[in-house]
Amino acid sequence: MAPLIRPARLEELEALLGMQQRSLRQLAAPFYGRDVLEAALAQMGTMDPRLIADGTYLVAEVEGRIAGSAGWTMRAPNYARLLQAPLPVLPGRSGVVRSVYVDPALARRGIARRLMEAVEARLTEDGAETAELMATLAGVPLYDALGYRVVSDHALLLAEGMEFPVRRMTRPLTVGTRITAHRAAAGARGRAAAAAA
Ligand SMILES: CC(C)(COP(=O)(O)OP(=O)(O)OC[C@H]1O[C@@H](n2cnc3c(N)ncnc32)[C@H](O)[C@@H]1OP(=O)(O)O)[C@@H](O)C(=O)NCCC(=O)NCCS
Repeated sequence: MAPLIRPARLEELEALLGMQQRSLRQLAAPFYGRDVLEAALAQMGTMDPRLIADGTYLVAEVEGRIAGSAGWTMRAPNYARLLQAPLPVLPGRSGVVRSVYVDPALARRGIARRLMEAVEARLTEDGAETAELMATLAGVPLYDALGYRVVSDHALLLAEGMEFPVRRMTRPLTVGTRITAHRAAAGARGRAAAAAA
């Protein structure tokens, strides 16, 4: 069940948001209280839709359905205003991974891993030397498995004194990664072109 990795389309925004909300509500439930998750959804949403128009948001498609999504950007994240202090800039040319979600019905089948390979490939092509992200606690095991290390822990300040703990993580995009990543990107583009034809 290898997913097709392709750019997200504006007309599928509603379906994407629906999958992302289901994903967060179910897969992040072991890590956050329900009230905290609902407050986070209300105050931050699940993604910045501008990434789709930017061409920096990818969808994993399985049997014609959206199975997952992930992107990258240099736009300020929608959670930034909920941090207690601005984040220090990391050394080197760093690319920021954003909004990684997998349909709960298809979790633990390697879909996020494939999405991350494609995102890192695009970051590498754009000249990034490291990838960084702000992980939900639900995302930490994935990024651990992919070789990310913890930079710092933070709490996003939500309404009514609620806090949403997150973890800033990073990993170098090494030469070896770049070769693998380049192949992944070429494969993703080839498949997307074949699907569009
Ligand atoms: C985090 C998330 C994207 C992972 O998606 P996924 O497709 O299930 O992940 P993968 O199947 O590609 O996992 C790759 C590896 O990561 C690790 N991993 C992923 N999810 C894990 C979990 N819940 N527990 C332990 N390890 C996990 C494993 O090592 C896994 O390899 P394995 O299955 O061979 O053991 C998904 O759980 C999700 O959408 N969560 C809710 C939204 C969210 O919080 N996203 C993170 C935003 S920063």
